[in-house]
Amino acid sequence: MRRPVIAGNWKMHLSLAEGLALATEIRNRCGRFRTGEVVLAPVAVQIHPIAQRLADSNIAVAAQNCHAAAKGAFTGELSPTQILDAGATYVIIGHSERRQFFGETDEGVGKKGRSALDHGLIPILCIGETLAEREAGRTLEVVCRQLDAAIAPLSPEEVAGVIIAYEPVWAIGTGRTATPNQAQEVHAAIRRRLAEKTSPAVAERVRLQYGGSVKPDNIAALMAEPDIDGALVGGASLEAQSFIQIVTGALGAESN
Ligand code: 13P
Repeated sequence: MRRPVIAGNWKMHLSLAEGLALATEIRNRCGRFRTGEVVLAPVAVQIHPIAQRLADSNIAVAAQNCHAAAKGAFTGELSPTQILDAGATYVIIGHSERRQFFGETDEGVGKKGRSALDHGLIPILCIGETLAEREAGRTLEVVCRQLDAAIAPLSPEEVAGVIIAYEPVWAIGTGRTATPNQAQEVHAAIRRRLAEKTSPAVAERVRLQYGGSVKPDNIAALMAEPDIDGALVGGASLEAQSFIQIVTGALGAESN
């Protein structure tokens, strides 16, 4: 029903030569999956060459951020139309690193998601609690607040087409993955919240990715959970072998 989607977030890593080599190997070894989608998110200046390299595959490209405006005097920013022009079809919005280090707000995430959809990009809307919030028992409160703001500007039909990535901040780059049970608990709560805010039918269609220390050895257990529809992978997406193992583990053995 829900088509699984595995995305690699390269963050601010890799030279152009490294990115092209990695994209080429991923394309050659898992560019024809029919059972799900694979998305790569290079740094902004590499979107165009990476998208060109992947043009003959069904691997899509994502930007890691966008501005809410289509154009304007915003030095250093990228608009959704420019991202689309460069060859990306997805955009990651509200990643915890953007919230933590670049002042992204819940409301700003909502505006960016709205704009991404207006310009034909599929947003991957990121939400997730910090360790302090989890330890204070506030996980669901925080995640629901972020979710509500991210989807507030969208119609139910639009919500059905976005991807929500649950990334607990304490699991990002720490090697400390949420257990499949912990992740499923939050994913189920996110789907319940989506059902309340839209409708049960819409909530059933929304793809929910888990992110945070996803590795070849934990992907299968995560994907076995009923409300986990994919993964947003950081560190393990920077190396062909581990990313391909994650894709294969999530989407099955089908390959070239
Ligand atoms: P890691 O897989 O390195 O923990 O990063 C997760 C992430 O932030 C993906 O967006």
